Amino acid sequence: MTLYFGSDHAGRELKGILLSHAKEKGISVVDLGTDADLSVDYPDYAQKVGDAVVGAPGSYGVLVCGTGIGMSIAANKIHGIRAALLYNEETARLAHQHNNANIVVFGGREVPPKEATSWLDAFLSSTFEGGRHGRRIEKIARIEQEHR
Ligand code: RB5
Repeated sequence: MTLYFGSDHAGRELKGILLSHAKEKGISVVDLGTDADLSVDYPDYAQKVGDAVVGAPGSYGVLVCGTGIGMSIAANKIHGIRAALLYNEETARLAHQHNNANIVVFGGREVPPKEATSWLDAFLSSTFEGGRHGRRIEKIARIEQEHR
């Protein structure tokens, strides 16, 4: 399993912390930028990570911008992406168990790094429960098909 990371300038610091944390746990990580403090546009990084995740089934993405909102909106435009903006440990778990999210999103200006790393752990250690949640994910996929 590979984790693809992306951020804009506002999320760069937290992205680095989350990436190092995942690497220390022995997870294969790929940093798709940004790697400088220069102001950049978050949709460019949402697209890079979204495309990477869709192209590598079984992989996951981590996106960070200032609030997490722009990255969420942009990533969810990509067919096959289910990006979840996390706001506590419970939503991190449920994003996997109920929504089968393949990208998790953080607000780099909103979340203390220690909390963000524990939310990432909670997401990664959970699994999709299927059943009625599978039916709902299929309905989301149907909406995508109808809006191609
Ligand atoms: C950048 O200033 C900021 O707008 C961006 O990081 C993000 O919060 C957008 O949703």
